[in-house]
Amino acid sequence: MRRVVVPGSFDPVTNGHLDIVGRAARLADEVIVAVLRNPNKIALFTVDERVEMLREVTKEQANVRVAKFDGLIVDFCKANDVSAIVKGLRAVSDFDYELQMAQMNYNQAGVETLFISTNPLYAFLSSSLVKEFAKYGGDVASLVPEPVLDRLTVRLAES
Ligand code: PNS
Repeated sequence: MRRVVVPGSFDPVTNGHLDIVGRAARLADEVIVAVLRNPNKIALFTVDERVEMLREVTKEQANVRVAKFDGLIVDFCKANDVSAIVKGLRAVSDFDYELQMAQMNYNQAGVETLFISTNPLYAFLSSSLVKEFAKYGGDVASLVPEPVLDRLTVRLAES
C-alpha cells in the first residue's frame, strides 16, 4: 500500500490544493490530507473547520482522507506509515524553500518528497490571496469550491 501525505495549512482549501490532491490520489493507493495545527499562525478558520471543509470537498474521492497534525511532518509520516510527502510547485519562487524542506526531511528521517507541477490555471493561487480578495469584495468563486466560498463569505461578514 502506497500511502502519501499532502500537508498544508489549508486556510482555506483552494481549487489549486484540490488539483494536487486529486492528482496524488490517481498515483497513490491512499492520500492523507494533513492539516497543520500551528498555534503561531493567525488563521481565519480553526483547524477543525479546515478539516471539515476538506472532508466535504473530497468526500467523493474514496482513497482520500483528512487528518490534522502538529509537530514535524516526518513524525506524522512515520506514525502513519506514509511513503512520501506530496507538494504542489506553482513557480520557481516556491522551489527554494520547498527544496530545502524536502532535503531536511530526507536528511532527518529518510522521508521522500514528490513534487507535482501545479496546473497553470492555478499557478497564481494561494489561500492568502483568496482571503485578501474576498475580504475586499473580490470575486473568488472560480478559485475555491462552493462550500468553501459559502463559509468564507459568512466568516468575512462576521469579522
Ligand atoms: O500550506 P503551508 O502553510 O505552506 O504548509 C506548510 C507545511 C505545513 C507543509 C510545512 O510548514 C510543514 O510541513 N510544517 C510542519 C512542521 C515541520 O515538519 N517543519 C519542518 C519542515 S522541514
